[in-house]
Amino acid sequence: MNKAYIFVLGGTSTITLSIFLFVLAPRIQVSAIDKDAISAQLPYTEAELKGRKSYIENGCIYCHSQQVRDPVAGADKHFGWGRPSLPSDYIYDKPHLLGTMRTGPDLSNIGTRQPSRDWQHLHLYDPRSLVEWSIMPGFPFMYEVVTSTDSPKPGAIRIPGKTDQWIVPDDEAENLVSYLMSLKRDREPMKASEVKQ
Ligand code: HEC
Repeated sequence: MNKAYIFVLGGTSTITLSIFLFVLAPRIQVSAIDKDAISAQLPYTEAELKGRKSYIENGCIYCHSQQVRDPVAGADKHFGWGRPSLPSDYIYDKPHLLGTMRTGPDLSNIGTRQPSRDWQHLHLYDPRSLVEWSIMPGFPFMYEVVTSTDSPKPGAIRIPGKTDQWIVPDDEAENLVSYLMSLKRDREPMKASEVKQ
């Protein structure tokens, strides 16, 4: 065992590198964040909070993240998911819904990227009616399907490709879409010194 120094050297450099990558580098990154920043996010309304609850209950978080990585750490910007996330983006999120899986796209900015309520409802009702290759499950139990013979209902949305079928969102679907619409983490935080007292 006259080459024990190789093990000692290997072990020491692994630990040193890990400390740098997982302790020091994040610390340097966080210390560079502007402490003077005031979040530009708006507090959630009652409907949005209910939608947020339903986002958790329906397992959306298992397939969607809400965190845009810095360009040095990934191609998120290239995917068009918006600017890198900032701590102040999550000021009203308790608990946060950062997510760890990206079976589907990041939803940090979905309210800005897809501002059509009708699109969101149709997509939740049947993702494949809008995105042919989608592997997202549908949530049809949040919708009532009505036909042209039924009396017209306010808020009914015509199913694409079907001339005589509409979907009518229930309260849960409306709240969930309100929550999705509220996800606009593309506003820049303001500086405390710029905010009028
Ligand atoms: C099994 C994984 C899975 C689950 C669970 C899931 N999704 Fe998705 N989602 C996807 C995939 C894959 C896509 C991309 C294809 C598409 O647009 O349908 C997607 C797309 C989306 C989009 C469009 C994103 C964009 O950038 O165009 C929205 C909005 C969305 N999902 C919301 C939800 C909500 C809300 C829930 C929970 C009610 C949910 N998803 C649950 C996999 C999932």
